[in-house]
Amino acid sequence: MDPYDRYELMVNGTVVNTPIVLASMAGVVDAEYALARQDNAGMVCMGGYSIDETTMAASRLLVEAGRDEFLTDDPVAEIRAQAQILVESGLVIAVNMRGSAPESYAAVARAVGSGIVYEIDAHCRQEPMIAAGCGEALLHDTEKLEETVRALKRENVKVSVKIRAGVADDDRVLAQTLWHAGADIIHIDLMDFGHTKLRQIRNACPLILIANNSVNSFTVVKDMLTHGADMVSLARHADPATLADLNKQMAAYADETGWYSTPKQLCRGGDIRSLAFCCMPVKNCPLIPTLENLGISRNEFMSLKLGAVKNTPLAGGANTCFGSLAWCCKSSTPCMFRNMALKDAGLSQSDYMRCKRRLSEKLMKRVFEGDAFYATE
Ligand SMILES: Cc1cc2nc3c(=O)[nH]c(=O)nc-3n(C[C@H](O)[C@H](O)[C@H](O)COP(=O)(O)O)c2cc1C
Ligand code: SF4
Ligand code: SF4
Repeated sequence: MDPYDRYELMVNGTVVNTPIVLASMAGVVDAEYALARQDNAGMVCMGGYSIDETTMAASRLLVEAGRDEFLTDDPVAEIRAQAQILVESGLVIAVNMRGSAPESYAAVARAVGSGIVYEIDAHCRQEPMIAAGCGEALLHDTEKLEETVRALKRENVKVSVKIRAGVADDDRVLAQTLWHAGADIIHIDLMDFGHTKLRQIRNACPLILIANNSVNSFTVVKDMLTHGADMVSLARHADPATLADLNKQMAAYADETGWYSTPKQLCRGGDIRSLAFCCMPVKNCPLIPTLENLGISRNEFMSLKLGAVKNTPLAGGANTCFGSLAWCCKSSTPCMFRNMALKDAGLSQSDYMRCKRRLSEKLMKRVFEGDAFYATE
């Protein structure tokens, strides 16, 4: 199947072949590393590269202490050369950077251009980097992080922010701050928090989310995708065999379900994209407090859903519980009545889930942008 049909995912104008990201490892992840894995990855975050005098000095200290780092006197030339090698690879190219000031990041973007994604390393916890004012220091100085995002966005480039969950005062507030500053992607090292933090961030912003930490099996991948991740990333476990296995299972799962990142139902701990599967708001269940938190009344929710499915195959389903497929459950929940309605509408299970994805996108537009799709009658 065509990768766009399979995942419907684009980053920086490039179709993502598979939602598997090669996460950066300083001194390790460069173009050669990515080429050796290009068949089973969709994106690479090269680096991290230290991009100004202060952070280059920090890199030298780390090398003296025995760590691997990319040492170069001309980071712009190096990043440009590495990116050039990957131009034909089909990978979305990103570069993970450590800078001591917002202007350092903007200068690289100005010089290298919009063909690559610029990832701010707000993750590194090595002491010399923190002292240089980057890495984890940015999670304690979110004004500077915000200014760094804005400085990059003024260069008209796509921006990712690599964070470590549980370091900032409140990751939900951080996610909203990054979103409003213009970031396109949040790349989250979930540490030991797992999908709980991921769901919180998913429910706080509409950005592309890359989930990271200990992704080494499809069970972990599925857990991330069903709780809000658009992509998963691997660093320590990004060996070719693991990547090939994940890519194969990911493709099979996507083809079978029709929506590779289908959320769990809300009452099973799903994120708010799962409102697409919720029933009419007529019973006491997690939907009610969720709508209250979102500032959406029950009547508005009904109008929203019915409006969003109007003139789509989900408008049918008169014999289902609530008279429309708009209110029906995930295809993984067995149901004779829904299946009969799908048969009548000539919809396969995976087409049904594609329609639910469209519905979810419309609902998320209302949640995050205030757009409404009200039923007109
Ligand atoms: C040797 C090594 C170097 C790393 N260098 C960077 C870096 O430069 N920038 C960054 O954002 N993360 C860096 N990371 C963090 C990884 O990208 C990733 O977030 C972390 O290892 C957890 O993911 P994993 O379980 O897939 O390894 C590094 C990790 C390792 C092991
Ligand atoms: S509305 Fe239905 S699917 Fe949604 S939380 Fe309630 S019981 Fe679960
Ligand atoms: S008809 Fe079946 S799928 Fe639809 S809401 Fe009822 S139980 Fe769920």
